[in-house]
Amino acid sequence: MLTSKIVLIGFLFGSLLLASQDAQTIIKDNGCFACHGIKTKKRAPSFAAIANRNKRFEGENAQANIMNSIQNGSHGKYPHFSDNAMPFYDKLSQEELRIVADYILAQSSKMQNGGGIPKSFRMNTMQKDFE
Ligand code: HEC
Repeated sequence: MLTSKIVLIGFLFGSLLLASQDAQTIIKDNGCFACHGIKTKKRAPSFAAIANRNKRFEGENAQANIMNSIQNGSHGKYPHFSDNAMPFYDKLSQEELRIVADYILAQSSKMQNGGGIPKSFRMNTMQKDFE
């Protein structure tokens, strides 16, 4: 009885760990870090800022919205990055999209200094997105 519980806990923990490693592998293999940082902006908002924006504005649809943006690309949602666009990744499976979306959403607590958005921008409409 106890052994089976330990095995079950081990399995659950192991699969969690596996999912987060998978997410990082998928992200690295697809070159996402060329534009995104976890905590800091590059040519695109940080994953932490994306997590916050989606949790705040998409609520229950956050995961589905992120999966859709990765699969189909995105432009114009984050005005300060409108010089750049999110390419589409239509070769990723639904499972891979879900793993990456969950990983991105789990980074929300890592946001620092407004997710790398300059303070002057945060004064206006974007403030609510990134506070
Ligand atoms: C060429 C640069 C570039 C690359 C490479 C890139 N992105 Fe993006 N990404 C962007 C830009 C720019 C935006 C902001 C789009 C907007 O304003 O709508 C963005 C936005 C996003 C969003 C937010 C979408 C939303 O609806 O809130 C997610 C999630 C995302 N990227 C994930 C990824 C993942 C995962 C990868 C790799 C598979 C990746 N990005 C690769 C530039 C990039």
